[in-house]
Amino acid sequence: MATIKSILHETRIFPPDPAFVEQANVSGMETYHALCAEAEKDLPAFWGRLAKEHILWHKPFTRVLDETNHPFLNWFDDGELNVSFNCLDRHLDTQPDKTAIIFEADDGAITRSTYRELHHQVCQFANGLKSLGIKKGDRVVIYMPMSIEAVVAMQGCARIGATHSVVFGGFSAKSLHERILNAGAVAVITADEQRRGGKINHLKAVVDDAIARGGADSVTSVVIYQRGAGNVQLHVPRDVWWHELIKDQSDICEPEWVNSEHPLFTLYTSGSTGRPKGVQHSSAGYLLGAITSMKWVFDYKPADVFWCTADVGWVTGHSYVTYGPLAIGATQVIFEGVPTYPDAGRFWKMIQDHQVTVFYTAPTAIRSLIKLGPDFPGKYDLSSLRLLGSVGEPINPEAWIWYYTVVGQSRCPVVDTWWQTETGSHMIAPLPGAVPLKPGSCTLPLPGIIAGIVDEAGHDIPDGKGGFLVIKRPFPSLARTLWGEPERFRKTYFPEELGGKYYLAGDSANRDADGYFWIMGRVDDVLTVSGHRLGTMEIESALVASPLVAEAAVVGKPDEIKTEAIVAFVVLKGSRPQGANAHDIAVELRNWVSTEIGPIARPDEIRFGDNLPKTRSGKIMRRLLRTLAKGEEITQDTSTLENPAILEQLKHPIT
Ligand code: WTA
Repeated sequence: MATIKSILHETRIFPPDPAFVEQANVSGMETYHALCAEAEKDLPAFWGRLAKEHILWHKPFTRVLDETNHPFLNWFDDGELNVSFNCLDRHLDTQPDKTAIIFEADDGAITRSTYRELHHQVCQFANGLKSLGIKKGDRVVIYMPMSIEAVVAMQGCARIGATHSVVFGGFSAKSLHERILNAGAVAVITADEQRRGGKINHLKAVVDDAIARGGADSVTSVVIYQRGAGNVQLHVPRDVWWHELIKDQSDICEPEWVNSEHPLFTLYTSGSTGRPKGVQHSSAGYLLGAITSMKWVFDYKPADVFWCTADVGWVTGHSYVTYGPLAIGATQVIFEGVPTYPDAGRFWKMIQDHQVTVFYTAPTAIRSLIKLGPDFPGKYDLSSLRLLGSVGEPINPEAWIWYYTVVGQSRCPVVDTWWQTETGSHMIAPLPGAVPLKPGSCTLPLPGIIAGIVDEAGHDIPDGKGGFLVIKRPFPSLARTLWGEPERFRKTYFPEELGGKYYLAGDSANRDADGYFWIMGRVDDVLTVSGHRLGTMEIESALVASPLVAEAAVVGKPDEIKTEAIVAFVVLKGSRPQGANAHDIAVELRNWVSTEIGPIARPDEIRFGDNLPKTRSGKIMRRLLRTLAKGEEITQDTSTLENPAILEQLKHPIT
């Protein structure tokens, strides 16, 4: 709440520096307004023009937008392309020897690939996938550490028309298993191990565990990239080493031309129910969003060294590591490790060493670095930087100002980018050579994005009053459906109550008198924990899956670093534990959730009660739990509460 209050009182404005405006891809507010006006006049014509300019088509499209089957839209749907061709082959004549990727490993070792080399790597790997019988339309799960190979794996799938589904390396065997099953994957691409902050995580062993859980008979191949010592159990003939697979493969691979709407990938994300959603993206529309936002929001220039710190397990790592930077021909940094290892100066040292010009990270990383080493940036030469970006959650003005003044030395615009797994690319963000910045606001929608704020009935809400953030008109990079669950897609994102036409983002927002958007947070039961989306129901299901637990309710509690900390209220099957016993069970349950979902979902606090606060009709009163979690006195009306006595039990965390 402190964050939201401080945001609402923020009045500072930072207009773009004239020197920045002059060189910008979108220079000045008039240019921005002209683009918006072009889009508003004829939305399909606007996106059609951009799609022709930015995408190389194998077969040009003649239709831009087909809304007949709303909300299942088709964009450019008689066109054909290949996304990997658009990311790699297009640069072979013009800049084959330009560095595409500078990879820095956890221990500081550096590997580079030029566009020509990356093209060879992707072609060889794609041929390797084909040799395993993997073909267009097959689903491939990728469970890998940050590496050049992770990008090669994704691009290799795109090259042959296989739909990839990347699962973040921090997810557990159980989560991986669910995702493999839901996708019906034919292959899993993984590594022997992952190294982060000096620690080793044995990814292949997790894959073995996931597949051994049963029902994953669709998986006929597991490809293992050797990152470390190579100590894995090989299940022959299912398992094959990456280096063996590509050994005799040609470095030419004719791309598989696919329809614009062909699913490039699915990516699982948390929703308000227990089951993760397989967000399904298209090929052309998705790619177009990645390219236009690289140009508009990151003001991409050929001399840039771009660094997005996101893992490829999240959408940010898809759009701004694997696809956007390559499609636009950038040199980018990819980092295996964590920002605090060997110390809290790692990011700043890497910016100095690689002469990074555009740096994109999450507020949670910024806040933890402020806490651990506010003076660290001063030890490094950060003069190469010209633009900073933020993503994943609201950035509080204090963190914004530190980022702007200490990291960017009051020289670099900060682009606060609001978007989602579902939207595929930036939706609301400043175009840095045009839009004046206000710390804590993601500012104005991108050209072609018609955003609004509405009430429960879908009616516009006057500026200054918060409501539901919606996008009112179609845009090419929006997810097409949820994998295998079209009705869930419609109900979740285009609810009837709002008239069925608006895309409902799931965030609440406020718009000020200048038309600037201020994101307030999720309106559903989704927590933002260190920039990751986690459903409270997912964590609750994990808890009740423990043989000890009868019932559980999970809420978020504001946290200075992580945005929200996870607090779980638990009723055990036996009696309420006390003292050391309570402590031991709390530790056991926290670890349990970590194994069930992944360490990112481990509750920060557990509290035990004989029961949970419920209404007489049996509904858990979550708003009371939120108040208890914050350690605040209950001032709400508790008259509908069935059992007021248990509030006392739930007041204190188990330490
Ligand atoms: C939140 C990450 C405020 C928001 C790209 C959204 C933000 C969810 C911002 C999507 C921002 C993302 N300001 N909130 N700049 N960016 N969010 O799917 O709640 O992992 O709905 O996509 O993160 O998270 P997701």
